[in-house]
Amino acid sequence: MRIDIVSLFPDFVAQCAAFGVVGRAVERGLLSVHGFNPRDYAEGNYRRVDDRPFGGGPGMLMLVDPLRASLRAAREADPAPAKVVYMSPQGAPLTQAKVRELAGRERLILLCGRYEGIDERLIRAEVDEEISIGDYVLSGGELAAAVIVDAVARLREGVLGDAESAVQDSFEDGLLDCPHYTRPVEHEFGTVPEVLMSGNHAEIAKWRRMQSLGRTWQRRPDLLDEAALSKADRKLLAA
Ligand code: ADE
Repeated sequence: MRIDIVSLFPDFVAQCAAFGVVGRAVERGLLSVHGFNPRDYAEGNYRRVDDRPFGGGPGMLMLVDPLRASLRAAREADPAPAKVVYMSPQGAPLTQAKVRELAGRERLILLCGRYEGIDERLIRAEVDEEISIGDYVLSGGELAAAVIVDAVARLREGVLGDAESAVQDSFEDGLLDCPHYTRPVEHEFGTVPEVLMSGNHAEIAKWRRMQSLGRTWQRRPDLLDEAALSKADRKLLAA
């Protein structure tokens, strides 16, 4: 998979992709991350990439043309069709389902704004989708792009080993994850729940499901409306 980053700080995102599981995926050629800096495509001695907003107001906006040229360069760098995603607080909230959809593509171009944002005409003409990583405002889209690179990479075939398998992740079934324990069994902070050491896989699976359901109910009841719950799950919740 190839992910292009259009940003005034493209190295920031590439650096985030240099560590851990994602870094290994890049080293093994399962993923590549390339930066395109609008400043390199800006005209004039000052290589200007921003200007004041019409109608007044604070801050600056990113100009259409340097971004358009960066996007064109990114598109031309690889003939496979790419989806252009603009990272923005006005976008649709990022969910694990959306991450899975993006991970199914061979190419993405992530467009990162700075300042007060981007001229709307560029967004309308070039952007396929706007995504937000939460209801707060960052000083640019780079952190959001790094979040997408990380979440998408770990779903690509071969990136996680069996031991790290993504199918057991929180949100994969629409619920929060259950608690996990490792050695020692006895600790000043508590004892590992006995069922986890019973060797009874059916009981362990049931305990984990109950914990997931309970936590989701306590912490994120909104998720229960959308989660795929079985009859047995509903019985557990009603109890
Ligand atoms: N850029 C600035 N804030 C953002 C957010 N919350 N999500 C995505 N991109 C952003």
